[in-house]
Amino acid sequence: MKRNILVTGGAGFIGSHLVRLLVNKYPDYRIVNLDKLTYAGNLTNLEDVADRANYVFEKADICDIDEMMQIMQRYEIDGVIHLAAESHVDRSITDPFTFARTNVMGTLSLLHAAKTYWESRPEGYEGKLFYHISTDEVYGALELTNPEGIDSPFTTAASSCGHKAYGREFFVETTKYNPHSPYSASKASSDHFVRAYHDTYGMPTIVTNCSNNYGPYQFPEKLIPLFINNIRHHRPLPVYGEGMNVRDWLYVEDHVRAIDLIFHKGKVAETYNIGGFNEWKNIDIVKTIIRITDRLLGNPKGYSDELITYVTDRAGHDLRYAIDSRKLQSELGWEPSLQFEEGIERTVKWYLENQDWVDRITSGEYIKYYESMYGNR
Ligand code: NAD
Ligand code: TYD
Repeated sequence: MKRNILVTGGAGFIGSHLVRLLVNKYPDYRIVNLDKLTYAGNLTNLEDVADRANYVFEKADICDIDEMMQIMQRYEIDGVIHLAAESHVDRSITDPFTFARTNVMGTLSLLHAAKTYWESRPEGYEGKLFYHISTDEVYGALELTNPEGIDSPFTTAASSCGHKAYGREFFVETTKYNPHSPYSASKASSDHFVRAYHDTYGMPTIVTNCSNNYGPYQFPEKLIPLFINNIRHHRPLPVYGEGMNVRDWLYVEDHVRAIDLIFHKGKVAETYNIGGFNEWKNIDIVKTIIRITDRLLGNPKGYSDELITYVTDRAGHDLRYAIDSRKLQSELGWEPSLQFEEGIERTVKWYLENQDWVDRITSGEYIKYYESMYGNR
């Protein structure tokens, strides 16, 4: 079946993996990648699919409702997968307004453009879907009751042997929202608007809340790519607080596989949690990254340990995130495909083999390039 799918934020980290998957897997679909190309958007992430006949790029701001309307109409969009967002917690602490603008008002503009366009069609909402990509951070923080770890209650084919959980509570789809950072507050608000458009106007919507992603093409301000790059340059590794905060890590390709599955098979009006069944304390992740990066760079064992630098904690730093994604596992048969040990090894290798990609970003060269191509709007 032919479909016209609008992916917002397709030049970012997760969006670029999703666009690549959809363009390769569905030659009959037209995939429209809509992105403002903020500091986090990078079209070189998609160089390998840029010339495909079923791929189109539109530089646009999701807050511009008129432009959203025109794009919906021009491409006769029947499915929206909405990833465009400001995504970095530390930036949200210094600049909360940008997060409210993009994540709340931008999502509302996109929702309203989709509503207006779909309601103008003779078939109405039939065959349409607005799929909103959100985060587990909307649920707030879980307690860390077992700092030494207990056996994880979850089993998946890819679970690491003897993997630990750091508490007995997990986020489920019905966990009450309790966001703490301006980032998570803005994402929570956008989730509520998406559900309101279903409940009020009957728009077919789905929301998914995913845990921390890692893998190639992640902007090097986030923990894993930042630390790999700092090790390469023998620079300090700024660990917030005592490094005891726990995150649940999922390889990005497993996330976009889940998005594809849910977009096609998920139940309208449902929420699905997506997670890696894979909790790690930050300090343990950092030691793992050091060990792998040093080995791949040919450094002696323990060479970069001295780079670990404990710094002032992030304000309002959530202690523990851990997702229970058994609903997705039992209803749609999804689970992570990759063991963390394999995923992190692949990730470190990718950043070391693609140093040009990182260097162009850290030098700001890629922003100059886009401004020359698309202007600075
Ligand atoms: P990212 O920061 O790498 O990419 C965001 C993209 O959105 C960029 O390409 C940027 O240019 C674009 N964008 C920003 N503002 C825009 C605007 N006003 N109009 C159009 N485009 C705009 O983010 P990511 O890590 O790929 O996250 C993608 C989505 O997934 C976000 O909604 C995020 O909340 C969610 N999410 C991320 C994670 C994670 O670990 N990275 C986990 C769960 C959920
Ligand atoms: P991050 O990658 O920013 O993702 P999020 O805040 O969305 O979870 O951070 C992951 C964890 O690593 C988080 O607990 C904060 C911590 N962290 C550091 O300790 N130092 C750093 O320099 C960064 C960027 C993050």
